Amino acid sequence: ANAKMVLDKDYRIAEVDPRLYGSFIEHLGRAVYGGIYEPGHPSADDQGFRTDVLELVRELKVPIVRYPGGNMVSAYNWEDGIGPRDERPRRLELAWRTIETNQMGTNEFADWARKAGTEVMMAINLGTRGIDAARNLLEYCNHPGGTYWSDLRRQHGYAEPHAIKTWCLGNEMDGPWQVGQKTPDEYGRIARETAKAMRLVDPDIKLVSCGSSNSSMPSFPEWEATTLDHTYDEVDYLSLHQYFGNHANDSQNYLAFTMELDRFVDTVIATCDYIKAKKRSRKTMMLSFDEWNVWYHSTDADRKLEPWTEAPPQLEDVYNFEDALLVGGILISFLRRADRIKMACMAQLVNVIAPIMTENGGEAWKQTIYYPYAHASVFGRGVSLQPLITSPKLDTQDFTDVPWLESATVYNEEEATVTVFALNRHLSETLTLDAHLGGFADYGIVEHVVLENQDLKAVNTAGNATVTPHNRGRSELTEGHLQAQLNPASWNVIRLR
Ligand code: AHR
Repeated sequence: ANAKMVLDKDYRIAEVDPRLYGSFIEHLGRAVYGGIYEPGHPSADDQGFRTDVLELVRELKVPIVRYPGGNMVSAYNWEDGIGPRDERPRRLELAWRTIETNQMGTNEFADWARKAGTEVMMAINLGTRGIDAARNLLEYCNHPGGTYWSDLRRQHGYAEPHAIKTWCLGNEMDGPWQVGQKTPDEYGRIARETAKAMRLVDPDIKLVSCGSSNSSMPSFPEWEATTLDHTYDEVDYLSLHQYFGNHANDSQNYLAFTMELDRFVDTVIATCDYIKAKKRSRKTMMLSFDEWNVWYHSTDADRKLEPWTEAPPQLEDVYNFEDALLVGGILISFLRRADRIKMACMAQLVNVIAPIMTENGGEAWKQTIYYPYAHASVFGRGVSLQPLITSPKLDTQDFTDVPWLESATVYNEEEATVTVFALNRHLSETLTLDAHLGGFADYGIVEHVVLENQDLKAVNTAGNATVTPHNRGRSELTEGHLQAQLNPASWNVIRLR
């Protein structure tokens, strides 16, 4: 079967914000302890950071990392994580019912982020706390000195402010599981007032208002409308969260979940624009998709864990090949809404529903989903072009008219490169892609990278990289006419220059 695509240098969706390829580290399971931080590990540096993990993170070119939660932040006292380590309290961590030792905190994470070449997206506690804790934390992080909290930071060894730009006003405050869950009006009010106080401390920060925890929440999208009615003028982004799973073990249906994702994003945009119209505002609300991934493999194992242990193996999904295909599809969806989605965080980064896995004291390795994420982050920087796609379609259990082909193209003007990301989601049929690339007549193919595997359930484990990309994809490019073979169930990255 054939799919057609037409695009042109001048048909632009938007400049891709590099923060679209962000990630997330929560104090949860072994993300911090045994993940990014493990003093005593053979690869640990003088601060106890695992350099094997740092290397894998750097390779992903992660531009921003959300921290310290997640659900955890809603009962977190940030002051527990600063000052001399041996004086820090051990606490009951209520979200995940573990023991938090507080050996990592704000300053250590800022150090880790610098070493990883990334920026911090800081979340504040609007569950058990509020305006006061938020403005103090911001003063501690960003004020140069000469005040109580900024001088305390200096006393802790950090003369320079951390200059954290992006701040999340709480986390999933609509969720009954959240410590300090709020009604939309309660959240809207506290988020707005906290935003105002934070901007007085540092007018240069960017703020994220909490959206629904997922598109199935009964209060979606009323939550967005009501909370934005309060926060619209004070914030820069609205957050979205969504996780996927092949619960019914129906792979063709699973790979069509990006249809649901697109619908979710469209609805959130429509709701933002409704509030914009209602307020006669000139500001367009941008989106921060600050939690997204596949999450379902570990759910049963997690139920069996004993509470109140330190850094237990929670949410340790072992991803298979089909998960990588869906992750590729999600990234394509984001690129095609690059006009409104400015930040996104794959949740999470290490061990906890993550592209990178580690053994305590042992190896660190790439899960299957690492690859599409790395490809998009490394090659998907530039302008997202608007493709016109004609593709054969299929029906699945939950979706009709699902195109076999999902594709996005990013043009990097500076480097004069073009990257076509293409997912053939059909499980058994090859697709020939015929693409007309207007304005790129003198380009040739650099490489055609493919992630494919006979076994949709194939996984990578320590020392066992079963699912890895190759660059023997078949494509030809003559005078701006690209013909590419997209194998069944394959993720393709066609790089042109
Ligand atoms: O990423 C895991 C959890 O998922 C986060 O803590 C929470 O915000 C979401 O429900």
